[in-house]
Amino acid sequence: MDLYKQALQAIRDTLEEAKQIALPDPMVMSLATVDAVGQPSVRTVYLQAVVDNGLVFFTSCQSRKAIQLAANPRAAVCIYCQPLARQIQVEGTAWLLGEEEAGMYWAMRSRDSQVAAWASGQAELSESQEHFEHQLAEYRQRFDFHRQVPKPQHWCGYCLTPERIELWKKSWRHPQQRLSYQKTSNGWSVTRVNP
Ligand SMILES: Cc1cc2nc3c(=O)[nH]c(=O)nc-3n(C[C@H](O)[C@H](O)[C@H](O)COP(=O)(O)O)c2cc1C
Repeated sequence: MDLYKQALQAIRDTLEEAKQIALPDPMVMSLATVDAVGQPSVRTVYLQAVVDNGLVFFTSCQSRKAIQLAANPRAAVCIYCQPLARQIQVEGTAWLLGEEEAGMYWAMRSRDSQVAAWASGQAELSESQEHFEHQLAEYRQRFDFHRQVPKPQHWCGYCLTPERIELWKKSWRHPQQRLSYQKTSNGWSVTRVNP
């Protein structure tokens, strides 16, 4: 198996192990982006899938992070799985997914989160919690007789294509281990780094 595939598989295996131990929210990650003056910002997003091209996540195209990614697609994520004592870091470029692919992931979401996506533009100022709940109730009613909730235009997906992957782990048998996978001009390399 090539080094990139090996690193992706290690990420999938960790997430699978986290699901097995019934960890609440095993698929959440911190996503860092940078603005036009180089100011980083970070927030939590759901990791929708780990595909051959990288890590897929979704957001509102009107959000601050989406505006930052449109100007500078460089991004990084970090996943910390406390019960397994593992950390996954991925750095690379976040590419906007096409409508067809985004639609495929949209169909996999629960009806509740589909309706919530309609009510949340993210960049918009929220008048009040009551106003948001009122909007949510309106959308629920609007889609009540729809078999499927359509994808709102403002809901978009990204794939973070890795150029660097770092895997940190600790086990009862070993002290911390840190493996750093790096994309180079002729493939991927891996180095063991001091934890
Ligand atoms: C557990 C959890 C999961 C979240 N998942 C997402 C997500 O998948 N997509 C998203 O846009 N925001 C998600 N959020 C909200 C973001 O953290 C953030 O508040 C929002 O996207 C606005 O970020 P921005 O203004 O930096 O763009 C999640 C928050 C939490 C606490």
